[in-house]
Amino acid sequence: MEENTRRSKEWFGHADKMGFVHRSWLRNQGHPDHMFDGRPVIGICNTWSDLTPCNAHLRDFAQIVKRGVYEAGGFPLEFPVMSLGETIMKPSTMMWRNLVSMDVEESIRANPLDGIVLLTGCDKTTPSTLMGACSVDLPTLVVPGGPMLNGKWRGKDVGSGTLTWQLGEGLKDGSISPADVYEAESCMSRSAGHCMTMGTASSMASTVEALGLTLPGAAAIPAVDARKRVLAHLSGNRIVEMVRENLKISDVLTREAFENAIMVNAAIGGSTNVMIHLTAIAGRLGIKLEIDDFDRIGSRLPMLTNLMPAGEFLMEDFYYAGGLPVVIRELGERLHAGTVSVNGKSIVENSREAVCYDRRVVATFADPVKEEAGIVVLRGNLCPDGAVIKPSAASPELLRHTGAAVVFETIEDYHARIDADDLEIDADSVMVLKGVGPVGYPGMPEVGNMDLPAKLLKQGVKDMVRISDGRMSGTAYGAAVLHVAPESAIGGPLALVKNGDLITLDVPARSLHLHVDDEELARRRAAWSPPPPVAQRGYVKLFIEHVEQADQGCDFDFLRGGSGAEIKRDLH
Ligand code: FES
Repeated sequence: MEENTRRSKEWFGHADKMGFVHRSWLRNQGHPDHMFDGRPVIGICNTWSDLTPCNAHLRDFAQIVKRGVYEAGGFPLEFPVMSLGETIMKPSTMMWRNLVSMDVEESIRANPLDGIVLLTGCDKTTPSTLMGACSVDLPTLVVPGGPMLNGKWRGKDVGSGTLTWQLGEGLKDGSISPADVYEAESCMSRSAGHCMTMGTASSMASTVEALGLTLPGAAAIPAVDARKRVLAHLSGNRIVEMVRENLKISDVLTREAFENAIMVNAAIGGSTNVMIHLTAIAGRLGIKLEIDDFDRIGSRLPMLTNLMPAGEFLMEDFYYAGGLPVVIRELGERLHAGTVSVNGKSIVENSREAVCYDRRVVATFADPVKEEAGIVVLRGNLCPDGAVIKPSAASPELLRHTGAAVVFETIEDYHARIDADDLEIDADSVMVLKGVGPVGYPGMPEVGNMDLPAKLLKQGVKDMVRISDGRMSGTAYGAAVLHVAPESAIGGPLALVKNGDLITLDVPARSLHLHVDDEELARRRAAWSPPPPVAQRGYVKLFIEHVEQADQGCDFDFLRGGSGAEIKRDLH
Protein backbone atom coordinates (compact mmCIF):
# COMPACT_ATOMS: atom_id res chain seq x y z
CA MET A 1 0.00 0.00 0.00
CA GLU A 2 1.32 3.42 -0.86
CA GLU A 3 1.66 5.63 2.17
CA ASN A 4 -0.81 8.19 0.88
CA THR A 5 -3.61 5.59 0.67
CA ARG A 6 -3.30 4.31 4.24
CA ARG A 7 -6.51 4.56 6.16
CA SER A 8 -4.80 6.36 9.10
CA LYS A 9 -4.24 9.28 6.74
CA GLU A 10 -7.97 9.92 6.87
CA TRP A 11 -7.50 10.81 10.54
CA PHE A 12 -4.00 12.29 10.73
CA GLY A 13 -3.18 13.41 7.18
CA HIS A 14 -5.35 16.49 6.88
CA ALA A 15 -4.42 20.10 7.63
CA ASP A 16 -8.01 21.07 8.42
CA LYS A 17 -10.00 21.28 11.65
CA MET A 18 -10.64 17.54 11.83
CA GLY A 19 -6.96 16.73 11.30
CA PHE A 20 -6.30 18.99 14.28
CA VAL A 21 -8.96 17.20 16.35
CA HIS A 22 -7.66 13.73 15.56
CA ARG A 23 -4.03 14.63 16.32
CA SER A 24 -4.32 17.14 19.11
CA TRP A 25 -5.92 14.98 21.80
CA LEU A 26 -3.51 12.13 21.06
CA ARG A 27 -0.66 14.59 21.60
CA ASN A 28 -1.44 14.55 25.31
CA GLN A 29 0.47 11.25 25.44
CA GLY A 30 3.59 12.99 24.20
CA HIS A 31 3.74 11.63 20.66
CA PRO A 32 6.20 13.67 18.57
CA ASP A 33 5.39 15.19 15.17
CA HIS A 34 6.91 12.40 13.13
CA MET A 35 4.42 9.84 14.51
CA PHE A 36 1.84 11.60 12.33
CA ASP A 37 3.94 11.72 9.17
CA GLY A 38 2.06 8.94 7.37
CA ARG A 39 3.88 5.98 8.89
CA PRO A 40 1.90 2.75 9.48
CA VAL A 41 -0.27 3.01 12.57
CA ILE A 42 -0.40 -0.34 14.35
CA GLY A 43 -3.19 -1.24 16.73
CA ILE A 44 -2.16 -3.59 19.50
CA CYS A 45 -5.35 -5.31 20.55
CA ASN A 46 -4.79 -6.40 24.11
CA THR A 47 -6.80 -9.06 25.94
CA TRP A 48 -4.86 -8.40 29.15
CA SER A 49 -6.91 -8.61 32.33
CA ASP A 50 -6.25 -9.52 35.94
CA LEU A 51 -9.44 -11.55 35.59
CA THR A 52 -7.98 -13.55 32.72
CA PRO A 53 -5.06 -15.20 34.52
CA CYS A 54 -3.74 -16.79 31.33
CA ASN A 55 -3.35 -13.33 29.76
CA ALA A 56 -2.18 -11.37 32.81
CA HIS A 57 1.33 -10.96 31.36
CA LEU A 58 0.16 -9.38 28.11
CA ARG A 59 0.47 -5.82 29.37
CA ASP A 60 4.23 -6.38 29.35
CA PHE A 61 4.04 -8.02 25.95
CA ALA A 62 2.31 -4.97 24.47
CA GLN A 63 5.31 -2.86 25.46
CA ILE A 64 7.64 -5.28 23.71
CA VAL A 65 5.52 -5.29 20.55
CA LYS A 66 5.60 -1.49 20.64
CA ARG A 67 9.41 -1.56 20.69
CA GLY A 68 9.34 -3.65 17.53
CA VAL A 69 6.81 -1.36 15.85
CA TYR A 70 8.80 1.78 16.66
CA GLU A 71 12.00 0.14 15.49
CA ALA A 72 10.44 -0.67 12.12
CA GLY A 73 9.14 2.87 11.65
CA GLY A 74 5.53 2.40 12.75
CA PHE A 75 3.35 4.16 15.30
CA PRO A 76 1.93 1.67 17.85
CA LEU A 77 -1.31 2.36 19.70
CA GLU A 78 -2.52 -0.21 22.21
CA PHE A 79 -6.19 -0.68 22.93
CA PRO A 80 -8.05 -2.97 25.34
CA VAL A 81 -10.93 -5.24 24.49
CA MET A 82 -13.13 -7.36 26.69
CA SER A 83 -11.14 -10.32 27.94
CA LEU A 84 -12.47 -13.81 28.64
CA GLY A 85 -11.03 -15.70 31.61
CA GLU A 86 -11.99 -19.32 31.10
CA THR A 87 -11.75 -20.38 34.72
CA ILE A 88 -13.46 -17.34 36.17
CA MET A 89 -16.39 -16.22 34.04
CA LYS A 90 -19.88 -17.67 34.49
CA PRO A 91 -21.80 -19.30 32.95
CA SER A 92 -19.40 -19.86 30.05
CA THR A 93 -16.89 -17.72 28.15
CA MET A 94 -18.35 -19.15 24.97
CA MET A 95 -21.34 -16.89 25.50
CA TRP A 96 -19.14 -13.79 25.16
CA ARG A 97 -16.89 -14.94 22.33
CA ASN A 98 -19.19 -13.26 19.82
CA LEU A 99 -19.50 -10.11 21.95
CA VAL A 100 -15.71 -9.76 22.04
CA SER A 101 -15.58 -10.31 18.30
CA MET A 102 -17.93 -7.35 17.91
CA ASP A 103 -15.83 -5.27 20.31
CA VAL A 104 -12.68 -6.08 18.32
CA GLU A 105 -14.27 -5.52 14.93
CA GLU A 106 -15.72 -2.14 15.79
CA SER A 107 -12.65 -1.01 17.74
CA ILE A 108 -10.45 -1.69 14.74
CA ARG A 109 -12.76 -0.15 12.16
CA ALA A 110 -13.55 2.98 14.15
CA ASN A 111 -9.93 3.89 14.80
CA PRO A 112 -7.03 5.15 12.67
CA LEU A 113 -5.33 1.78 12.35
CA ASP A 114 -3.47 0.32 9.37
CA GLY A 115 -2.37 -2.99 10.86
CA ILE A 116 -3.26 -5.08 13.88
CA VAL A 117 -1.38 -7.22 16.38
CA LEU A 118 -3.67 -9.46 18.41
CA LEU A 119 -2.35 -10.42 21.85
CA THR A 120 -4.10 -13.63 22.78
CA GLY A 121 -3.84 -16.50 25.24
CA CYS A 122 -6.74 -18.03 27.13
CA ASP A 123 -9.13 -20.18 25.10
CA LYS A 124 -11.70 -17.75 23.70
CA THR A 125 -9.37 -14.75 23.50
CA THR A 126 -7.92 -16.20 20.30
CA PRO A 127 -11.04 -16.98 18.22
CA SER A 128 -12.96 -13.94 19.45
CA THR A 129 -10.27 -11.46 18.41
CA LEU A 130 -9.62 -13.25 15.14
CA MET A 131 -13.29 -13.28 14.20
CA GLY A 132 -13.46 -9.53 14.72
CA ALA A 133 -10.24 -8.88 12.82
CA CYS A 134 -11.41 -10.98 9.87
CA SER A 135 -14.56 -8.91 9.52
CA VAL A 136 -12.41 -5.79 9.00
CA ASP A 137 -9.63 -7.41 6.96
CA LEU A 138 -6.51 -5.37 7.65
CA PRO A 139 -2.95 -6.74 7.81
CA THR A 140 -3.10 -8.76 11.04
CA LEU A 141 -0.59 -10.78 13.03
CA VAL A 142 -1.12 -12.80 16.20
CA VAL A 143 1.23 -12.99 19.18
CA PRO A 144 0.05 -15.95 21.28
CA GLY A 145 0.84 -15.33 24.94
CA GLY A 146 2.31 -18.80 25.40
CA PRO A 147 1.73 -21.69 27.78
CA MET A 148 2.68 -21.86 31.44
CA LEU A 149 5.74 -23.86 32.46
CA ASN A 150 5.04 -27.50 33.24
CA GLY A 151 3.09 -27.97 36.45
CA LYS A 152 5.17 -29.76 39.09
CA TRP A 153 3.51 -31.57 41.98
CA ARG A 154 5.07 -34.14 44.27
CA GLY A 155 7.84 -34.97 41.88
CA LYS A 156 5.65 -35.31 38.81
CA ASP A 157 4.70 -33.13 35.87
CA VAL A 158 1.04 -32.18 36.04
CA GLY A 159 -1.00 -30.59 33.31
CA SER A 160 -3.42 -27.73 33.78
CA GLY A 161 -6.99 -28.83 33.43
CA THR A 162 -6.08 -32.48 33.09
CA LEU A 163 -5.00 -32.52 36.76
CA THR A 164 -8.27 -30.81 37.63
CA TRP A 165 -10.30 -33.70 36.24
CA GLN A 166 -8.05 -36.23 37.97
CA LEU A 167 -8.38 -34.41 41.30
CA GLY A 168 -12.14 -34.20 40.90
CA GLU A 169 -12.38 -37.94 40.41
CA GLY A 170 -9.95 -38.53 43.29
CA LEU A 171 -12.07 -36.45 45.64
CA LYS A 172 -15.09 -38.53 44.69
CA ASP A 173 -13.47 -41.93 45.10
CA GLY A 174 -11.63 -40.87 48.27
CA SER A 175 -8.08 -41.24 46.94
CA ILE A 176 -7.43 -37.48 47.18
CA SER A 177 -8.11 -35.18 50.17
CA PRO A 178 -9.22 -31.53 50.08
CA ALA A 179 -5.80 -30.63 51.56
CA ASP A 180 -4.11 -32.37 48.61
CA VAL A 181 -6.19 -30.33 46.22
CA TYR A 182 -5.31 -27.07 47.98
CA GLU A 183 -1.61 -27.89 47.81
CA ALA A 184 -1.81 -28.81 44.13
CA GLU A 185 -3.28 -25.45 43.07
CA SER A 186 -0.11 -23.39 43.04
CA CYS A 187 1.99 -26.35 41.94
CA MET A 188 -0.03 -26.68 38.76
CA SER A 189 -0.19 -22.96 37.91
CA ARG A 190 3.33 -21.79 38.71
CA SER A 191 4.11 -19.26 36.00
CA ALA A 192 2.51 -16.78 33.64
CA GLY A 193 0.79 -18.24 30.60
CA HIS A 194 -2.17 -20.31 29.54
CA CYS A 195 -2.94 -24.00 30.12
CA MET A 196 0.15 -26.02 29.24
CA THR A 197 -1.65 -29.16 28.11
CA MET A 198 -2.76 -29.48 24.50
CA GLY A 199 -6.07 -27.98 25.60
CA THR A 200 -8.05 -25.40 23.73
CA ALA A 201 -5.61 -22.52 24.27
CA SER A 202 -2.60 -24.50 23.03
CA SER A 203 -4.69 -26.01 20.24
CA MET A 204 -5.87 -22.58 19.13
CA ALA A 205 -2.35 -21.12 19.34
CA SER A 206 -1.09 -24.04 17.24
CA THR A 207 -4.02 -23.64 14.85
CA VAL A 208 -3.24 -19.95 14.43
CA GLU A 209 0.40 -20.80 13.70
CA ALA A 210 -0.74 -23.43 11.19
CA LEU A 211 -3.04 -20.88 9.57
CA GLY A 212 0.04 -18.72 9.03
CA LEU A 213 -0.96 -15.87 11.32
CA THR A 214 2.09 -16.00 13.64
CA LEU A 215 5.78 -15.89 13.03
CA PRO A 216 7.13 -19.47 12.77
CA GLY A 217 7.37 -21.47 15.98
CA ALA A 218 5.29 -19.07 18.07
CA ALA A 219 2.72 -21.37 19.62
CA ALA A 220 4.81 -23.58 21.88
CA ILE A 221 7.20 -21.00 23.36
CA PRO A 222 6.40 -20.75 27.08
CA ALA A 223 5.08 -17.38 28.20
CA VAL A 224 8.03 -16.75 30.51
CA ASP A 225 10.75 -17.81 28.08
CA ALA A 226 12.78 -14.81 26.89
CA ARG A 227 12.41 -16.10 23.35
CA LYS A 228 8.69 -15.35 23.57
CA ARG A 229 9.64 -11.73 24.12
CA VAL A 230 11.93 -11.86 21.13
CA LEU A 231 8.98 -13.18 19.11
CA ALA A 232 6.81 -10.29 20.33
CA HIS A 233 9.52 -7.80 19.34
CA LEU A 234 9.93 -9.35 15.89
CA SER A 235 6.15 -9.44 15.45
CA GLY A 236 6.16 -5.68 16.06
CA ASN A 237 8.76 -5.34 13.33
CA ARG A 238 6.90 -7.54 10.92
CA ILE A 239 3.43 -6.02 11.19
CA VAL A 240 4.85 -2.70 9.97
CA GLU A 241 6.24 -4.43 6.90
CA MET A 242 2.94 -6.24 6.38
CA VAL A 243 1.18 -2.88 6.20
CA ARG A 244 3.72 -1.67 3.67
CA GLU A 245 3.16 -4.85 1.64
CA ASN A 246 -0.63 -4.69 2.19
CA LEU A 247 -0.61 -8.36 3.23
CA LYS A 248 -4.13 -8.62 4.61
CA ILE A 249 -5.58 -11.32 6.83
CA SER A 250 -7.74 -12.52 3.93
CA ASP A 251 -4.55 -13.10 1.90
CA VAL A 252 -3.32 -15.45 4.63
CA LEU A 253 -6.60 -17.13 5.55
CA THR A 254 -7.51 -18.94 2.36
CA ARG A 255 -9.49 -22.16 2.24
CA GLU A 256 -6.18 -24.03 1.85
CA ALA A 257 -4.89 -22.38 5.03
CA PHE A 258 -7.95 -23.61 6.93
CA GLU A 259 -7.44 -27.10 5.57
CA ASN A 260 -3.81 -26.97 6.74
CA ALA A 261 -5.01 -25.94 10.19
CA ILE A 262 -7.47 -28.86 10.29
CA MET A 263 -4.67 -31.28 9.46
CA VAL A 264 -2.32 -29.81 12.03
CA ASN A 265 -5.00 -29.84 14.73
CA ALA A 266 -5.55 -33.53 14.02
CA ALA A 267 -1.84 -34.32 14.16
CA ILE A 268 -1.43 -32.61 17.54
CA GLY A 269 -4.53 -34.29 19.02
CA GLY A 270 -6.04 -30.82 19.39
CA SER A 271 -9.23 -29.74 21.07
CA THR A 272 -12.71 -30.38 19.71
CA ASN A 273 -13.39 -26.69 20.36
CA VAL A 274 -11.14 -25.81 17.42
CA MET A 275 -13.86 -27.06 15.07
CA ILE A 276 -16.36 -24.53 16.33
CA HIS A 277 -13.90 -21.66 16.36
CA LEU A 278 -12.35 -22.37 12.95
CA THR A 279 -15.81 -22.62 11.39
CA ALA A 280 -16.76 -19.26 12.86
CA ILE A 281 -13.49 -17.58 11.83
CA ALA A 282 -13.80 -18.91 8.27
CA GLY A 283 -17.39 -17.71 8.15
CA ARG A 284 -16.24 -14.15 8.73
CA LEU A 285 -14.24 -14.40 5.50
CA GLY A 286 -17.02 -16.01 3.50
CA ILE A 287 -15.33 -19.43 3.58
CA LYS A 288 -17.78 -22.23 4.32
CA LEU A 289 -16.32 -24.97 6.49
CA GLU A 290 -18.58 -27.96 7.10
CA ILE A 291 -18.09 -30.18 10.13
CA ASP A 292 -17.63 -33.09 7.75
CA ASP A 293 -14.55 -31.26 6.42
CA PHE A 294 -12.89 -31.87 9.77
CA ASP A 295 -13.56 -35.60 9.58
CA ARG A 296 -12.71 -35.89 5.89
CA ILE A 297 -9.49 -33.88 6.10
CA GLY A 298 -8.26 -34.65 9.58
CA SER A 299 -9.70 -37.72 11.22
CA ARG A 300 -7.56 -40.32 9.51
CA LEU A 301 -4.30 -38.53 10.13
CA PRO A 302 -2.13 -40.00 12.86
CA MET A 303 -1.40 -38.20 16.10
CA LEU A 304 2.21 -37.08 16.09
CA THR A 305 2.49 -35.40 19.48
CA ASN A 306 2.53 -37.13 22.84
CA LEU A 307 0.93 -34.35 24.86
CA MET A 308 -1.67 -34.33 27.63
CA PRO A 309 -4.58 -34.86 27.80
CA ALA A 310 -4.16 -37.66 25.25
CA GLY A 311 -0.47 -38.27 25.99
CA GLU A 312 2.28 -37.78 28.55
CA PHE A 313 4.12 -34.50 27.95
CA LEU A 314 3.34 -30.79 28.13
CA MET A 315 3.80 -27.69 25.99
CA GLU A 316 7.17 -26.81 27.52
CA ASP A 317 8.44 -30.23 26.42
CA PHE A 318 6.88 -29.63 23.01
CA TYR A 319 8.85 -26.41 22.63
CA TYR A 320 12.13 -28.04 23.60
CA ALA A 321 11.40 -30.89 21.17
CA GLY A 322 11.12 -28.42 18.29
CA GLY A 323 7.51 -27.27 18.52
CA LEU A 324 4.93 -27.04 15.79
CA PRO A 325 7.40 -26.65 12.88
CA VAL A 326 8.41 -30.29 13.47
CA VAL A 327 4.78 -31.40 13.15
CA ILE A 328 4.38 -29.32 10.00
CA ARG A 329 7.52 -30.83 8.54
CA GLU A 330 6.29 -34.34 9.35
CA LEU A 331 2.96 -33.66 7.61
CA GLY A 332 5.03 -32.54 4.63
CA GLU A 333 3.40 -32.79 1.25
CA ARG A 334 -0.01 -33.55 2.75
CA LEU A 335 -0.23 -29.85 3.55
CA HIS A 336 -1.03 -27.19 1.00
CA ALA A 337 2.30 -25.58 0.18
CA GLY A 338 0.86 -22.62 -1.71
CA THR A 339 -0.41 -20.66 1.27
CA VAL A 340 1.27 -17.53 2.54
CA SER A 341 1.94 -16.81 6.20
CA VAL A 342 2.58 -13.46 7.84
CA ASN A 343 6.29 -13.61 7.03
CA GLY A 344 5.50 -13.92 3.32
CA LYS A 345 6.40 -17.62 3.09
CA SER A 346 4.25 -20.73 3.42
CA ILE A 347 4.22 -22.70 6.67
CA VAL A 348 5.72 -25.60 4.72
CA GLU A 349 8.64 -23.47 3.60
CA ASN A 350 9.05 -22.03 7.09
CA SER A 351 9.31 -25.53 8.58
CA ARG A 352 11.57 -27.14 6.02
CA GLU A 353 14.62 -27.07 8.30
CA ALA A 354 12.76 -27.97 11.52
CA VAL A 355 14.64 -30.42 13.72
CA CYS A 356 13.09 -32.72 16.31
CA TYR A 357 15.10 -32.94 19.51
CA ASP A 358 12.90 -35.45 21.32
CA ARG A 359 11.03 -38.18 19.47
CA ARG A 360 9.21 -39.15 22.67
CA VAL A 361 7.32 -35.85 22.32
CA VAL A 362 6.92 -35.51 18.55
CA ALA A 363 6.84 -38.75 16.60
CA THR A 364 7.44 -39.32 12.92
CA PHE A 365 4.60 -39.72 10.46
CA ALA A 366 5.83 -43.24 9.75
CA ASP A 367 5.80 -44.23 13.42
CA PRO A 368 3.15 -42.03 15.07
CA VAL A 369 1.93 -41.86 18.66
CA LYS A 370 -1.54 -43.02 17.57
CA GLU A 371 -3.18 -43.96 14.30
CA GLU A 372 -6.23 -42.01 13.13
CA ALA A 373 -6.39 -39.64 16.07
CA GLY A 374 -8.27 -36.67 14.64
CA ILE A 375 -11.79 -35.59 15.57
CA VAL A 376 -14.59 -37.82 14.26
CA VAL A 377 -17.96 -36.46 13.15
CA LEU A 378 -20.93 -38.68 13.98
CA ARG A 379 -24.29 -38.79 12.23
CA GLY A 380 -27.53 -40.54 13.06
CA ASN A 381 -31.08 -40.05 14.22
CA LEU A 382 -29.82 -38.58 17.50
CA CYS A 383 -27.72 -35.91 15.78
CA PRO A 384 -29.06 -35.09 12.30
CA ASP A 385 -26.70 -32.10 12.03
CA GLY A 386 -23.77 -33.94 13.54
CA ALA A 387 -21.92 -34.56 16.77
CA VAL A 388 -18.23 -35.01 17.48
CA ILE A 389 -15.97 -37.25 19.49
CA LYS A 390 -12.24 -37.20 20.04
CA PRO A 391 -11.24 -40.87 19.87
CA SER A 392 -7.71 -40.19 21.09
CA ALA A 393 -9.13 -39.04 24.43
CA ALA A 394 -11.58 -41.95 24.79
CA SER A 395 -11.16 -45.51 26.05
CA PRO A 396 -10.78 -47.67 22.92
CA GLU A 397 -13.27 -50.30 24.12
CA LEU A 398 -16.03 -47.67 24.24
CA LEU A 399 -15.65 -46.54 20.64
CA ARG A 400 -18.20 -49.22 19.71
CA HIS A 401 -20.77 -49.43 22.47
CA THR A 402 -24.49 -49.92 23.07
CA GLY A 403 -26.01 -48.99 26.40
CA ALA A 404 -29.18 -47.81 28.09
CA ALA A 405 -29.60 -44.08 28.52
CA VAL A 406 -29.45 -42.47 31.95
CA VAL A 407 -30.91 -39.04 31.26
CA PHE A 408 -30.22 -35.78 33.04
CA GLU A 409 -32.68 -33.13 31.88
CA THR A 410 -30.53 -30.17 33.03
CA ILE A 411 -27.14 -29.56 34.60
CA GLU A 412 -28.93 -29.01 37.92
CA ASP A 413 -30.61 -32.40 37.58
CA TYR A 414 -27.20 -33.94 36.90
CA HIS A 415 -25.58 -32.33 39.96
CA ALA A 416 -28.52 -33.32 42.18
CA ARG A 417 -28.50 -37.01 41.26
CA ILE A 418 -25.12 -38.05 39.91
CA ASP A 419 -23.67 -39.16 43.23
CA ALA A 420 -26.89 -40.52 44.74
CA ASP A 421 -26.56 -44.11 45.94
CA ASP A 422 -29.90 -45.01 44.40
CA LEU A 423 -29.07 -43.72 40.91
CA GLU A 424 -29.72 -46.62 38.57
CA ILE A 425 -26.58 -46.69 36.49
CA ASP A 426 -23.75 -49.07 35.69
CA ALA A 427 -20.58 -48.96 33.65
CA ASP A 428 -22.44 -49.90 30.46
CA SER A 429 -25.00 -47.10 30.79
CA VAL A 430 -24.88 -44.13 28.43
CA MET A 431 -25.04 -40.83 30.30
CA VAL A 432 -27.16 -38.25 28.46
CA LEU A 433 -27.13 -34.56 29.45
CA LYS A 434 -29.63 -32.15 27.90
CA GLY A 435 -29.89 -28.37 27.99
CA VAL A 436 -26.21 -27.49 27.70
CA GLY A 437 -26.16 -26.31 24.08
CA PRO A 438 -25.66 -22.77 22.74
CA VAL A 439 -29.27 -21.69 23.41
CA GLY A 440 -30.15 -24.00 26.27
CA TYR A 441 -27.49 -23.23 28.86
CA PRO A 442 -26.93 -20.61 27.36
CA GLY A 443 -23.41 -20.54 25.93
CA MET A 444 -22.59 -24.23 25.43
CA PRO A 445 -20.30 -24.75 28.43
CA GLU A 446 -17.57 -27.34 28.78
CA VAL A 447 -19.58 -29.87 30.74
CA GLY A 448 -19.78 -32.63 28.14
CA ASN A 449 -17.16 -34.74 29.93
CA MET A 450 -19.48 -35.18 32.92
CA ASP A 451 -17.81 -36.57 36.03
CA LEU A 452 -18.74 -40.20 36.49
CA PRO A 453 -20.95 -41.27 39.42
CA ALA A 454 -19.01 -41.61 42.67
CA LYS A 455 -20.22 -45.16 43.22
CA LEU A 456 -18.84 -46.27 39.84
CA LEU A 457 -15.55 -44.43 40.37
CA LYS A 458 -15.17 -46.32 43.65
CA GLN A 459 -15.66 -49.56 41.70
CA GLY A 460 -12.75 -48.53 39.48
CA VAL A 461 -14.75 -47.43 36.43
CA LYS A 462 -12.61 -44.95 34.50
CA ASP A 463 -14.66 -44.07 31.44
CA MET A 464 -18.24 -44.25 30.16
CA VAL A 465 -20.06 -43.06 27.05
CA ARG A 466 -21.43 -39.59 27.68
CA ILE A 467 -23.61 -37.65 25.23
CA SER A 468 -24.58 -33.98 25.36
CA ASP A 469 -25.15 -30.86 23.32
CA GLY A 470 -22.35 -29.15 25.25
CA ARG A 471 -18.62 -28.88 24.70
CA MET A 472 -15.67 -30.45 26.49
CA SER A 473 -12.58 -28.70 27.79
CA GLY A 474 -9.62 -29.37 25.54
CA THR A 475 -7.79 -30.53 28.64
CA ALA A 476 -10.35 -33.24 29.36
CA TYR A 477 -10.66 -36.86 28.31
CA GLY A 478 -13.27 -39.57 28.07
CA ALA A 479 -15.71 -41.14 25.61
CA ALA A 480 -17.69 -37.92 25.37
CA VAL A 481 -19.96 -37.32 22.40
CA LEU A 482 -20.22 -33.55 22.12
CA HIS A 483 -21.81 -30.74 20.09
CA VAL A 484 -24.97 -32.75 19.36
CA ALA A 485 -26.91 -30.70 16.82
CA PRO A 486 -29.58 -29.55 16.75
CA GLU A 487 -29.44 -29.06 20.51
CA SER A 488 -32.17 -30.21 22.88
CA ALA A 489 -33.42 -26.72 23.80
CA ILE A 490 -34.56 -26.07 20.25
CA GLY A 491 -36.15 -29.49 19.86
CA GLY A 492 -33.31 -31.61 18.55
CA PRO A 493 -33.83 -35.37 18.96
CA LEU A 494 -31.68 -35.28 22.09
CA ALA A 495 -34.68 -33.62 23.78
CA LEU A 496 -36.72 -36.78 23.19
CA VAL A 497 -34.40 -39.33 24.81
CA LYS A 498 -35.81 -41.11 27.87
CA ASN A 499 -34.26 -43.24 30.59
CA GLY A 500 -33.67 -46.77 29.38
CA ASP A 501 -33.60 -45.98 25.63
CA LEU A 502 -30.82 -47.91 23.96
CA ILE A 503 -28.17 -45.85 22.22
CA THR A 504 -25.40 -47.17 19.99
CA LEU A 505 -22.16 -45.28 19.49
CA ASP A 506 -20.11 -46.65 16.60
CA VAL A 507 -17.10 -44.43 15.99
CA PRO A 508 -15.59 -46.50 13.15
CA ALA A 509 -18.98 -46.28 11.36
CA ARG A 510 -19.32 -42.55 12.28
CA SER A 511 -22.74 -43.26 13.74
CA LEU A 512 -24.80 -42.37 16.80
CA HIS A 513 -28.17 -44.13 16.87
CA LEU A 514 -31.13 -43.94 19.21
CA HIS A 515 -33.04 -47.23 19.13
CA VAL A 516 -36.51 -45.69 19.24
CA ASP A 517 -38.75 -45.98 16.21
CA ASP A 518 -39.99 -42.97 14.28
CA GLU A 519 -43.62 -43.32 15.43
CA GLU A 520 -42.61 -43.24 19.09
CA LEU A 521 -40.28 -40.30 18.46
CA ALA A 522 -43.17 -38.46 16.75
CA ARG A 523 -45.38 -39.12 19.79
CA ARG A 524 -42.68 -37.79 22.10
CA ARG A 525 -42.17 -34.74 19.90
CA ALA A 526 -45.89 -33.92 19.98
CA ALA A 527 -45.74 -33.96 23.79
CA TRP A 528 -42.54 -31.90 23.97
CA SER A 529 -42.48 -28.16 24.63
CA PRO A 530 -39.40 -25.94 24.63
CA PRO A 531 -38.00 -24.66 27.91
CA PRO A 532 -38.83 -21.01 28.69
CA PRO A 533 -36.29 -18.47 27.35
CA VAL A 534 -33.41 -17.94 29.76
CA ALA A 535 -33.35 -14.15 29.30
CA GLN A 536 -35.80 -11.36 28.48
CA ARG A 537 -33.31 -8.56 27.94
CA GLY A 538 -29.73 -7.57 27.24
CA TYR A 539 -26.91 -9.43 25.62
CA VAL A 540 -28.14 -12.86 26.70
CA LYS A 541 -31.42 -12.25 24.86
CA LEU A 542 -29.48 -11.22 21.76
CA PHE A 543 -27.35 -14.33 22.15
CA ILE A 544 -30.14 -16.88 22.41
CA GLU A 545 -32.07 -15.29 19.56
CA HIS A 546 -29.17 -15.19 17.12
CA VAL A 547 -26.60 -17.85 18.02
CA GLU A 548 -26.19 -20.59 15.44
CA GLN A 549 -25.78 -24.26 16.24
CA ALA A 550 -22.46 -25.97 16.93
CA ASP A 551 -22.06 -27.35 13.40
CA GLN A 552 -22.29 -23.76 12.11
CA GLY A 553 -19.65 -22.41 14.52
CA CYS A 554 -21.97 -20.74 17.08
CA ASP A 555 -21.50 -17.32 15.51
CA PHE A 556 -24.44 -14.92 15.37
CA ASP A 557 -26.44 -15.22 12.17
CA PHE A 558 -25.96 -11.48 11.50
CA LEU A 559 -22.18 -11.52 12.00
CA ARG A 560 -21.20 -13.82 9.17
CA GLY A 561 -18.94 -12.17 6.62
CA GLY A 562 -17.35 -8.78 7.07
CA SER A 563 -17.94 -5.09 6.56
CA GLY A 564 -14.42 -4.14 5.51
CA ALA A 565 -12.27 -1.35 6.87
CA GLU A 566 -13.96 1.61 5.26
CA ILE A 567 -15.77 4.15 7.40
CA LYS A 568 -17.67 6.76 5.50
CA ARG A 569 -18.45 9.54 7.95
CA ASP A 570 -16.28 11.62 10.25
CA LEU A 571 -17.31 12.55 13.78
CA HIS A 572 -18.39 16.04 12.78
FE1 FES B 1 -6.97 -20.11 30.22
FE2 FES B 1 -6.93 -22.86 30.13
S1 FES B 1 -7.88 -21.53 31.56
S2 FES B 1 -6.12 -21.43 28.78
